[in-house]
Amino acid sequence: MAVLPILETPDPLLRRISSPVEEVTPELQTLIDDMFETMYAAPGIGLAAIQVGVPKRLLVIDLQEPEEEGGEPVRRPLVFINPEIVETSDHLQVYNEGCLSVPEMYAEVERPDRIRARWLDRDGSSREEELDGLLAICLQHEMDHLEGILFIDHLSRLKRDMILKKLAKARKLAA
Ligand code: NI
Repeated sequence: MAVLPILETPDPLLRRISSPVEEVTPELQTLIDDMFETMYAAPGIGLAAIQVGVPKRLLVIDLQEPEEEGGEPVRRPLVFINPEIVETSDHLQVYNEGCLSVPEMYAEVERPDRIRARWLDRDGSSREEELDGLLAICLQHEMDHLEGILFIDHLSRLKRDMILKKLAKARKLAA
């Protein structure tokens, strides 16, 4: 397994539309393992393949939520290949989102709070489930990446420009 470099905005690859996975091969499973290692190391709770430069409809999620309040985070790795949203609730929820490709920046984004999704898992088996809460938010955020969309695209131009300015300043300070 390997920690892969994560692309950051404004890398043009992040704007690419990813192509469907044709077949779940051992090479794809290696990429999946590397994506988990990369996500845990970052650390983050979701990562799309395009964020490590691979334009395929593949993403990984692990909310790493503790079983009880104040407990140790528990790993529950989830793999989504060729995910599709088949139904969304009318009710929206607001979540303060961040993204490994827009490092250290956060903003509130509104999304449907419940979705029904269909995807292939790590073994290529078909799955369909209703998801809610943070998992629903996270999957929608990661699926946006497959369309070349970042969470900052959901903000007003003013807020987006503010974040990009802050990011540029933080990079200058770090350089
Ligand atoms: Ni992201």
